[in-house]
Amino acid sequence: MTNTVLALDAMEILDSRGRPTVRATCTLAGGISASASAPSGASTGSAEALELRDGDATRYGGLGCRTAVSHVRRDIHDALAGRTFAGQAEVDAALCALDGTHNKSRLGANAILAVSLAFARAAAQAERRPLYAYFAGLIGRSAHTLPRPTINLFSGGKHAGVRASMQDILIVPAAARSMDEALAVTYGVYQAAAALVLRKYEMRLLRADEGGLAPPFTTPEAILSDAVEAIDAAGYTPGRDVMLAIDVASSHFFDGARYQLGAASLNSAEMIERLVRWSESYPIVSIEDGLHEDDWSAWPELRRRLGDRVLTLGDDFLCTNPVRIVRAIETGACNALLLKVNQIGTISEAAQACMLARDAGWRVTVSARSGETEDDWLADLAVAWGDQIKVGSITQSDRLAKYNRLLAIEQEMHLPLMRWPNAA
Ligand code: PGA
Ligand code: ZN
Repeated sequence: MTNTVLALDAMEILDSRGRPTVRATCTLAGGISASASAPSGASTGSAEALELRDGDATRYGGLGCRTAVSHVRRDIHDALAGRTFAGQAEVDAALCALDGTHNKSRLGANAILAVSLAFARAAAQAERRPLYAYFAGLIGRSAHTLPRPTINLFSGGKHAGVRASMQDILIVPAAARSMDEALAVTYGVYQAAAALVLRKYEMRLLRADEGGLAPPFTTPEAILSDAVEAIDAAGYTPGRDVMLAIDVASSHFFDGARYQLGAASLNSAEMIERLVRWSESYPIVSIEDGLHEDDWSAWPELRRRLGDRVLTLGDDFLCTNPVRIVRAIETGACNALLLKVNQIGTISEAAQACMLARDAGWRVTVSARSGETEDDWLADLAVAWGDQIKVGSITQSDRLAKYNRLLAIEQEMHLPLMRWPNAA
């Protein structure tokens, strides 16, 4: 179905950290109009597309998005308005051509992604399809499962003032049979974890950017054992009912020569040993960014040692970038992609990344960013493309917008929850 773009508009709105981001609106010739907002990361990979910020230190510490907004209202509107597009790929190609840089640094990936998403939403409405069905069509699938949630319990790294080296400890309600059940299990574990934090660390709730609890853990292992203890205290069996996923985000404690993990200073081989030991001692089923983003020679060894029982998941390492994903497939560096569309900047390029990963037999975790808005398009994207979804905890509206959208899709469509790869 073709669509003629009538107008593109944008405004600056605030994200979950109170920082500006871009919301774009696309109006089609038929009169349909839809908006979408761009998220923003903090623990970013160096190969990510560029998020354009104003750099005016007197306003939002330089983080304003007025320049990106004006790019939508002027350059992008002028170039696209009045044109008829055969589909998402044509719109996204026009956006990339207009930008003309390899990392979207002229117009800004925040401006480009907001437009790409606003067009997707308007086009889905024009076709009278739910957004997830539209997204699924972009990778030649139809949506028939819901992604299994991986939900932040404890936080460290850049999302929690770097108190603990590791960034996220997530729970995976592996035995839950529905989204509804998975979230109820999560609530129980979160409450048990909050009680544990109060008792052990004498701390009331202190939440990190994505809603995880962030007490002053003494060692990296303490985070893992406290998570197991919370699962147990909530009445679930760790390793059967509830598993763990971790985002080590190790680029952010790699000092250029060694991994500064807690009190230890490790080389790549020692870091791999540590991760393998954790995977044997704790019910860990997914390890994200266990090694830093340019440790290309060590990633295949980590993948080999973890085998198929654990997802070796690349986030900053892959940056949702087809070139990096192809290299990782060829070298056997991962078996799972963490997909964040703003790392690459358009829906079509992210679709290409997703298809490369799927064709290689990898699993795909569709992920939010630590800076999010109340927009819920990510839930639809995860239903369409994801085996897993990573959105953050269950305590903030920016995260809950996505969980609540998943509950609504579940209630409407009765889709089964995706099985964990190795679950019975
Ligand atoms: P970010 O972190 O959104 O701050 O980059 C999320 C992650 O590392 O998975
Ligand atoms: Zn990550």
